[in-house]
Amino acid sequence: MEEFVLLELMGPIAVIKINRPKALNALSREIVDLIDDKLELIKKNKEIKALIITGDNNFAAGADIVDMVDKNAKEAKAFLFSDTFSKLESIEMPTIAAICGYALGGGLELALACDLRIASEDAQMGLPEINLGIMPGAGGTVRLPRLIGEAKAKELIYLGGRLSSQEAYQFGIVNKVVKTEELMTEALKMAGKLAEKSVIALKAAKKSINSGIECTKAEAINNEAELWAALFDSQDQKEGMKAFLEKRKPNYLGK
Ligand code: CAA
Repeated sequence: MEEFVLLELMGPIAVIKINRPKALNALSREIVDLIDDKLELIKKNKEIKALIITGDNNFAAGADIVDMVDKNAKEAKAFLFSDTFSKLESIEMPTIAAICGYALGGGLELALACDLRIASEDAQMGLPEINLGIMPGAGGTVRLPRLIGEAKAKELIYLGGRLSSQEAYQFGIVNKVVKTEELMTEALKMAGKLAEKSVIALKAAKKSINSGIECTKAEAINNEAELWAALFDSQDQKEGMKAFLEKRKPNYLGK
């Protein structure tokens, strides 16, 4: 049987690859459940320090329209991917979406739940749900305006058009555009750099940024101060600062 979602471990880096090329990696409920299973495995493995999500030739051309066409409201709600995408967003380690080909609808929403996005120069992104008589339902109307601002998000969601990777870069959706054949090398390079940092410092930074967007500015500043100060009880803080003073590379233990 075809494996629709592959998990590969490359030292401290985990790579989840969506593998349903015949349907351009359209996301069925089964595929999203498989991604969820992989996330659970990754959460339990303390050796993993960064996660890349990618797809075979295409990132994902959205939720599976064949699966959705006849659903009523109750069934559509059960089909939706929000829980898994929120699990991905809140996983402790940094996450990178390595986007090639199409990242549309639920596919782009999956990428938006990652911390960083690298796109190959041939990639195309968009939230075309409006063209199907629906709207984005797996975080698109929530994460995209937070990422790029309301006006640009409304333009993409209301008009349902597609962006090239360069345009997505200009919109602030992707962090970097790279040659198509270099996508995974670049994603692994970035993940490798992340894996060298202190796991606990990165975890705290992610928590502060993610929670800071959800609460008032005063609460966010307060949370940040708590998270920052707590790092001073860690060995990694001592190691990082001593290494600087001793003019050597730090060796972080994640403690
Ligand atoms: N669901 C199911 N099947 C899909 C699919 C999808 N989202 N996207 C592509 N496919 C299938 C096609 O039906 C086709 O299958 P067959 O060969 O069996 O006919 C195969 O993948 C190849 O696709 P095309 O022939 O259409 O390829 P193309 O190169 O001409 O076009 C495309 C590519 C522009 C991505 C086009 O396939 C397309 O527009 N796909 C739909 C994109 C979309 O609307 N996504 C949003 C879905 S809704 C959503 O995601 C809701 C949400 O918020 C959770």
